[in-house]
Amino acid sequence: MTTLTIRRPDDWHLHLRDGQMLESVLPQSSEHFGRAIIMPNLVPPVVTTKLAASYRDRILAALPEGHDFTPLMTLYLTETTDPDDVEAGFRDGLITAVKLYPAGATTNSQSGVRDLKKVRPVLERMAKIGMPLCMHGEVTSPDVDIFDREAVFIETVLGPLRESLPELRIVLEHVTTADGVDYVQSQDKNIGATITTHHLMINRNAILVGGIKPHYYCLPVAKREKHRLALRKAATSGDARFFLGTDSAPHTDPLKESACGCAGVFCAPNTMACLATVFEQDGALDKLEAFASLNGPAYYGLQPNDATLKLTRQDEPVTFPGKIQVGEDEVTVFDPMIPIHWTVEVSP
Ligand code: DOR
Ligand code: ZN
Repeated sequence: MTTLTIRRPDDWHLHLRDGQMLESVLPQSSEHFGRAIIMPNLVPPVVTTKLAASYRDRILAALPEGHDFTPLMTLYLTETTDPDDVEAGFRDGLITAVKLYPAGATTNSQSGVRDLKKVRPVLERMAKIGMPLCMHGEVTSPDVDIFDREAVFIETVLGPLRESLPELRIVLEHVTTADGVDYVQSQDKNIGATITTHHLMINRNAILVGGIKPHYYCLPVAKREKHRLALRKAATSGDARFFLGTDSAPHTDPLKESACGCAGVFCAPNTMACLATVFEQDGALDKLEAFASLNGPAYYGLQPNDATLKLTRQDEPVTFPGKIQVGEDEVTVFDPMIPIHWTVEVSP
């Protein structure tokens, strides 16, 4: 197959940041994607409907002419989040989901949740109104090995929460393990999971072999090869519980290339070309549309996009800019470490 036309995709997990960074990275997503779930871990975080409304306005103001893109806003869950504010934002159509960061799990998660009991009234309200909860699925206790944090989260946090509140609609975000895939596949309702492009392409060797490679460091950290293969199988199977969330998370090079570098892979610019390569390698190009364009809207109760995206395979490898400029600084683009032969165009 040399050309493939799919419905325009959506990104169900995206970091756009703010200010100059927002202006520089937004076009990289809004060119190909129709909608994105916008992560609220700004400094300070987006904790109220009012803050989300003004963040949405800043995103729309930064959108290039001619780009048709809808930001789907989320609220950052804290132990003082007001269930009435959450419900009002959801009913207005301004807020699509709430994001749960276990405190300390990742970038700007200090205001996140330490004790799930404290957010129980918010979660109960969300279950009642059918509002999805996006979860960063890692425990943070220092005695748990970083490579086991997702599996331990599923066993000690997610499982019990779902038993006590089965009607809550959950998105287990950026699954990185076979344990995550197995758990989602063992459940028949109210659970979906996003998978990033980079976790389909790299394992932990990318970060650690031949020198330390900070641009492959993200959270949850990439795991060993058997986990990557489990993610590939889930993503390319067409199973409606799995959909694309790039977790494209830009940090400037000085913040990545540091003795204590930030977590995040900036994959927005080449995500669709990389995904076409992944699905081609696995003989599953016919499932790419489900993963990138259909399963996500179905889980969120939205229609798929009307516009389409055309992917074309060429013999020569495609070259991508290695970095984008952000003010005086640069942000490094995800290097998939294999040649990519797909070009991507949006058609009306
Ligand atoms: O790698 C990551 N970067 N994981 C996250 O959960 C947050 C993100 C960020 O905001 O930089
Ligand atoms: Zn993220």
